[in-house]
Amino acid sequence: MSLTRRGWLQGAAWGVGIAGGVIAARRRRLRVLVLGGTRFVGRAIVAAVLARGHAVSLFNRGRTGPGLFPEAEELLGDREGDLAALRGRSWDVVIDTSGTNPQWVRRASELLHAAAGRYLYVSSTAAYTMSGSLRRSEESPIWPAATDAARTYGERKAAGEREVLRYFAGRATIVRPADLFGPHDYDRRAHFVRWALRARAGGEFLVLGRPENKVAFTDVRDLGAWIAGLIERDVRGVFNVAGPPFTLGALAAAAIAVGGPATPVWVDRRWAAAEGVDRKQLSAGTGSTYEMGSPLAVVRGLCFRPLVATMRDTLEWWDSPKGEAAGEAAGETPGMTAEAEAEVIAAWRASGGGSG
Ligand SMILES: NC(=O)c1ccc[n+]([C@@H]2O[C@H](COP(=O)([O-])OP(=O)(O)OC[C@H]3O[C@@H](n4cnc5c(N)ncnc54)[C@H](OP(=O)(O)O)[C@@H]3O)[C@@H](O)[C@H]2O)c1
Repeated sequence: MSLTRRGWLQGAAWGVGIAGGVIAARRRRLRVLVLGGTRFVGRAIVAAVLARGHAVSLFNRGRTGPGLFPEAEELLGDREGDLAALRGRSWDVVIDTSGTNPQWVRRASELLHAAAGRYLYVSSTAAYTMSGSLRRSEESPIWPAATDAARTYGERKAAGEREVLRYFAGRATIVRPADLFGPHDYDRRAHFVRWALRARAGGEFLVLGRPENKVAFTDVRDLGAWIAGLIERDVRGVFNVAGPPFTLGALAAAAIAVGGPATPVWVDRRWAAAEGVDRKQLSAGTGSTYEMGSPLAVVRGLCFRPLVATMRDTLEWWDSPKGEAAGEAAGETPGMTAEAEAEVIAAWRASGGGSG
């Protein structure tokens, strides 16, 4: 089929009109139920879905970000047991961003499978089983059902996927993100914004790893925009979202571009682990990470903004006035102190590190 013809068909399906010389596409307005939606990942998805003109109902306890989206309907309840606000209603799509417990996912899927057309579940790359290789594709095995009640996060996400597929077989979209970053990241701010803050402080900053090490994360707003498009196009299936291919060296360069001149000191991860350096106190990307990328998602329209834009916007968010939710004093660099970092760098050099 020619491009023109395909474009015409797409236009017909989506209702294209020409007004004042501008082609305006009228999308079918979807009724979208978002389970969660007011903290970080869900927030970015809701913002994107609303921006595209869809009708959104938010279901949560009303504790996190109440009134954040005045244009959305707020339905109050608790995934732990009170789903009354969802009864007797219907939606085109459910987007589950808060499904961290498989029982929550089962209750929602069971209740909604006849009342909703489709279910998009935000899972995680943690759903994949560990193996010797860091490579993963959507076909790689996920954690099997655990007999032990104390499931890990990855096992719970894998179990959540199975619940969705049980009730929405053929009508499910499973999205498995690796690390997500960007503005409003209250949980993991110690990891990402720290890059720009350390560069802004000037001097030397510690990075665990080598400049060529691959890292895999995605701006949460790119995920949100892509998911909004997926539900419009009714795309089903399983998708990894593990960023564009870039490196720790690129991250450090973006931090310097945004924060100002500073010098990364590359410290061997194994040496640091043996010395008891807590990598969780350092910037994102300094742990090992899966090598998977997002090829299927890219084919289905996922786009990535430049890394430096995520860095800049996250720093701007960090510097902006925030409510109590931020939980830390403005200006404070989260994670390891600069003094502790300098001690690690000195010990690394004393051990002969970085000299060869
Ligand atoms: N951050 C990452 O790098 C990353 C990577 C991969 C996957 N993920 C996935 O992304 C999701 C986390 O995203 P997020 O927390 O930023 O999502 P979010 O949807 O923005 O925030 C969590 C939402 O869940 C609601 N909630 C919490 N407990 C609830 C309950 N008992 N009943 C009803 N609603 C409840 C909260 O509102 P109330 O408090 O008002 O109830 C809030 O709206 C998880 O599913 C995680 O597995 C994250």
